[in-house]
Amino acid sequence: MRYAYPQGHVLYRKLGRIYPLVTHGEGIYLYDEKGKCYIDGSGGALVVNVGHGQKEIVQKMVEQMGQVGYVHGTQFTTHSIEEYAEAIGNILPGGLEKIYFLSGGSESIEAAIKFARQYFLESGHAQRWRVVARWHSYHGNTLGALSLTGRIGMRKPYLPLLIDFPHFPPPYCYRCPYNLTYPKCELECAKALEQLIQMEGAETISAVILEPIGGATIGALVPPEGYLNLIREICDRFGIFLIDDEVMTGMGRTGKWFATEHWKISPDIMVLGKGMSGGYFPLSAMVTRSEFVDRLKEKTGGFVHGHTFSHHPVACAVGLAVIRFIQEKKLIEQSEKRGIYLLKRLEELKNFPFVGDVRGKGLMTAIEFVKDQKTKEPFPRTDRFTEKVIDQAFENGLVLYPGTGFVDGVNGDMVMVGPPLIIEESQIEEIIDLLKKTFSHIQQKS
Ligand SMILES: Cc1ncc(COP(=O)(O)O)c(C=O)c1O
Repeated sequence: MRYAYPQGHVLYRKLGRIYPLVTHGEGIYLYDEKGKCYIDGSGGALVVNVGHGQKEIVQKMVEQMGQVGYVHGTQFTTHSIEEYAEAIGNILPGGLEKIYFLSGGSESIEAAIKFARQYFLESGHAQRWRVVARWHSYHGNTLGALSLTGRIGMRKPYLPLLIDFPHFPPPYCYRCPYNLTYPKCELECAKALEQLIQMEGAETISAVILEPIGGATIGALVPPEGYLNLIREICDRFGIFLIDDEVMTGMGRTGKWFATEHWKISPDIMVLGKGMSGGYFPLSAMVTRSEFVDRLKEKTGGFVHGHTFSHHPVACAVGLAVIRFIQEKKLIEQSEKRGIYLLKRLEELKNFPFVGDVRGKGLMTAIEFVKDQKTKEPFPRTDRFTEKVIDQAFENGLVLYPGTGFVDGVNGDMVMVGPPLIIEESQIEEIIDLLKKTFSHIQQKS
């Protein structure tokens, strides 16, 4: 049997791909039906933080399913929901304490947009509903989230359906949008937010949203020191919420529970997903402050929102098991330590003429490819360089996560390396060897 479109009834995400059928996973490894072993070098899409096949997580999930598999979020609560909320409450940055559980990152982004809107409406600012986001960002694919997402290629087919949310440039120091260098630039890219807010009218803006470290659509983009602090200050000055999208960066991925902790920032709303469940169950969350929820309670009586699968007892049991696993195995500390080692080893790849930049924090890293190391000229998109790397690595048994289009909306090539946080140093060596093998193949073929 070939698992490829148009055979069978699955509408695959990639219609031109033959899919290997995975039979099982163990730690950082995946195995297909032919017995081929892959290193899950990106944990899917930086999801599988705790690794594959962790029996204790499966056990907690099955236990909860045996007790009660589902209750509706307007009718009941369960031990798993209460205990999980308590456990997350204990690790959240100061001030954030109310957690609304959902099923996916995009869904929680939608909830964040709506929560900010309802809060300002009920605070007497009916005009405040627009959310400012960054170009080359990724916040999801549902229409509200896609309106925030700054990846041009994803937006284009759906432009007539999108909400008019303004965008500003990211802190992309490798290709500074202002042709400046840090620290002389005095964070011009953060100041651009202030100008944008003034031009659009602060009285129309409810929130600014950003990924503290840029992810899927720009590749582990770590902002310069002071950047996020200045963004926070600008939001405060205009009375605008800061929404911290930690869907990819959260739950230990960058060496802290949440990436904003690196800069000691506390947002007004935080969005979580991916690593919350390590991929074992669909789970995400929107998190905010009690004082904002109190306002909704006083006025309308509650958040005018909801989904059938929100506050899911089984999802929460999985989330709780994942937090306990991370704590017991000290995976936050491990992510920081292994991340330093991984980044150091990735630097060696600059010996290949097409490796322009390597960057990241913790176990969230990326390699940016260029046609010319000196001028940083990107490959033309028609070369499909990223796809060539991804396919070659896959053939060699290494799964990476791709990203394109971030240089100018069309060109720009990178792959993300973001293995499960349980990875050992010797397994990082395996990844580096496979990357070198892959890049040598690419070099030979070009
Ligand atoms: C930062 C960020 N926000 C939101 C999302 C959307 O999450 P989901 O794909 O679960 O809808 C993603 C997914 O990659 C993400 O990386």
